[in-house]
Amino acid sequence: MSPTDARENQGPAGRPISRKTVLKAAVLAGATPLLLGGGVALARDLGTAGPLALTPTCDDGDHPTIEQTEGPYFKPNSPLRTSLVTAGTPGTPLTVSGYVFGRACLPIAGALLDFWQADTNGAYDNTGFAFRGHQFTDAQGAFSLTTIVPGLYPGRTRHIHVKVQAPNRPVLTTQLYFPGEPRNSTDTIYDAALLMTVQQVGSGRLGSFDFVLDVAQTPSPSASPTASASPTPTQSPTQSPSPSAGAWAAGTTYATGARVGYAGLTYKCLQGHTAMTGWEPPNVPALWQRV
Ligand SMILES: [Fe+2]
Repeated sequence: MSPTDARENQGPAGRPISRKTVLKAAVLAGATPLLLGGGVALARDLGTAGPLALTPTCDDGDHPTIEQTEGPYFKPNSPLRTSLVTAGTPGTPLTVSGYVFGRACLPIAGALLDFWQADTNGAYDNTGFAFRGHQFTDAQGAFSLTTIVPGLYPGRTRHIHVKVQAPNRPVLTTQLYFPGEPRNSTDTIYDAALLMTVQQVGSGRLGSFDFVLDVAQTPSPSASPTASASPTPTQSPTQSPSPSAGAWAAGTTYATGARVGYAGLTYKCLQGHTAMTGWEPPNVPALWQRV
């Protein structure tokens, strides 16, 4: 956020207090703390008096959550579920919770969230739906995801992918990040505006993030959100039907079966995707097979 964003009054803690912050505080103060996996309470201290700390994306309603690349691993039709783990799933337990707001920081009920991430070893499940799932915000606009901390893979810092969609509105595709990750400073896709707040709780972690969708709202504290028909996520972009040839190049869309040259070797594309720096063929065996 630029310094010009802090253009409203300063609160006792030196943080800006805006009309919409008060609205958000009122929403959260009325919420019931959620019991999450392992009996851990919601990350926020909802019993604290006074305005809540601002999130990077919901301070004045003028800055919707930014969009980020979908990457090559999105799959449509993920299962409807709030937990991506079962007993014995390896990895550090992680619960991510938060709210989906519109431009006036009012909650949006029935918003779709479709999460996908790597497993603890940094691998995506491209044949099944492990660590993939979608859910809808409740009547208070809240969501909660039970999962593990995703592992690292070449070229990227630690992240979780998500598509968020208010009922009958366009899909926002973005990613969530973890504070304190060494690779945050070298990942060209990373954006600090998408950092979760993460707390260590026992052997697990609690993350929180609030999305702000570009949905016009009437900023009235008495407005109550209404759930609409549940939408389905927009299908992933159609890949080019003709295999690409020649040297591998970032920004090129490759179809399954396409062959490219890289560093004197030839690779075959295993899954259609748009190439990105960091996903060079030798770095991403899930996408490219040497032939
Ligand atoms: Fe990813």
